[in-house]
Amino acid sequence: MSSSIIATDLVRHKEGKIARDIFVSPEVYQRELKQVFGRSWLLVGHESQIPNKYDYFVSRMGEESVIMTRDKTNKIHVFLNTCPHRGMKVCRYDQGNARVFTCPYHAWSFSVDGNKNAPPGGLVGVPHFKKAYQGGLDKSKWGLVPVAQLVNYKGSIWANWDKNAVDFETYLGDMKIYLDAVLDHRDGTPGGSEVIGGIQKWKVPSNWKFGAENFIGDLYHITSHRSVDMVSIGPSGAGRRDTIKLDDEAEKHIIRKPPPRMGSIGFPNHGHGLIGTQPHYAEPDYAASFTLTPIVEEYYKEIYHRRVENLGKQSRVLTPVGTIFPNCSFHGMQPRALFTWHPNGAQEMEMWKWYLVDADAPDEVKNVLRQYYLRYAGPAGLTEQDDMENWNYATSASSGARAGLYPYNYQMGLGFESQATDIKDAIFTASVTEQNQRLFYNRWAEFMDADSWDNLHPDASNNFHDILARSQS
Ligand code: FES
Ligand SMILES: [Fe+2]
Repeated sequence: MSSSIIATDLVRHKEGKIARDIFVSPEVYQRELKQVFGRSWLLVGHESQIPNKYDYFVSRMGEESVIMTRDKTNKIHVFLNTCPHRGMKVCRYDQGNARVFTCPYHAWSFSVDGNKNAPPGGLVGVPHFKKAYQGGLDKSKWGLVPVAQLVNYKGSIWANWDKNAVDFETYLGDMKIYLDAVLDHRDGTPGGSEVIGGIQKWKVPSNWKFGAENFIGDLYHITSHRSVDMVSIGPSGAGRRDTIKLDDEAEKHIIRKPPPRMGSIGFPNHGHGLIGTQPHYAEPDYAASFTLTPIVEEYYKEIYHRRVENLGKQSRVLTPVGTIFPNCSFHGMQPRALFTWHPNGAQEMEMWKWYLVDADAPDEVKNVLRQYYLRYAGPAGLTEQDDMENWNYATSASSGARAGLYPYNYQMGLGFESQATDIKDAIFTASVTEQNQRLFYNRWAEFMDADSWDNLHPDASNNFHDILARSQS
């Protein structure tokens, strides 16, 4: 290994201590771009953003710009957005429709479909080709660079630069159950969701991992949102979001600690985690939550009963929030959304947010949801502003030479993890805990230090067994 960084020394997860370097150091950052973002499955977008052939959406993987597009057969491709000639950004728009991308610098052109001599994304046009290159340029070798692996999972598009990475479903493990709960139609029909409106993008002076670790299960920061809880921005005018009506007893606990059926669920061999219910807990009875807007309330009531019919009791898991390693998070209930925490240097990230709705929901429902999403989340949303303020100041207050000597504390719930009841390779804690943050950083350190995917396969990992062996519960 060429780096002087040993990430497993910085992340002492067994002691619950993590060095501040991982949030502020440019050296750590440069290495994670390659080791983490160069080998992980990353969310690129949603198929509903490019409904027609040749539609494109310019996204990111790590720091780098990529073009997600559809060819004439409706097959989706993702290409690195840089010209093979001199590196110019081939597409400088956010989205649009184009069969051919022509580089603005010297006008090499690349066809989404390719041609008989070139694959999709291939080089098809070179100005003065014969005179300038005397026939010596092999166009078939100078197309846009495609990702190594690509998957359309229930409409969400994921890509990986590493051809040796495990396939997407192995990468997800049983986190799949929870990603399904985010992506599926609310009536349980697989997929069936769409992105509403454009996506939100904004920069925050914070390391990207603050977002990922907060969404993996930081129930402890509820105090940050006290003011917005009091303003009552939820769709029923009571609280911030209000579909987690488990039962009266549970409601009493939700502020300080989650009720027993809702807890932290983590996948130590994969690095993913969430707050949610385990599959054996049945979803509670329907509780009215859109009481201010009868048409939406009617819709959700009907959908709830359809979901019960479609899925039965056992598989209706609930998940308010979670993170898929490394930088994709979600809100699974309200406001339903996918996020990416794009790295923009050690001390800046660009947050992207896709809001999801049932594709066939009435327009009135979509509109009410859109308005609620905007007042809750995003750069102007009341809840998200609280979070950004914390991550912003935590980053700057951690970057000094003196502050850097002191690790962060991740000891909450350490040694009290238990095996999830009916999810393979998952640990569960019913009270407030930092188990998910610890396993996230442990996995991050493994990616940072491992030479290849040979050492990263989730099935070969002992993380899950090690945590349980150390656990006292
Ligand atoms: S940089 Fe694109 S054609 Fe020269
Ligand atoms: Fe928050």
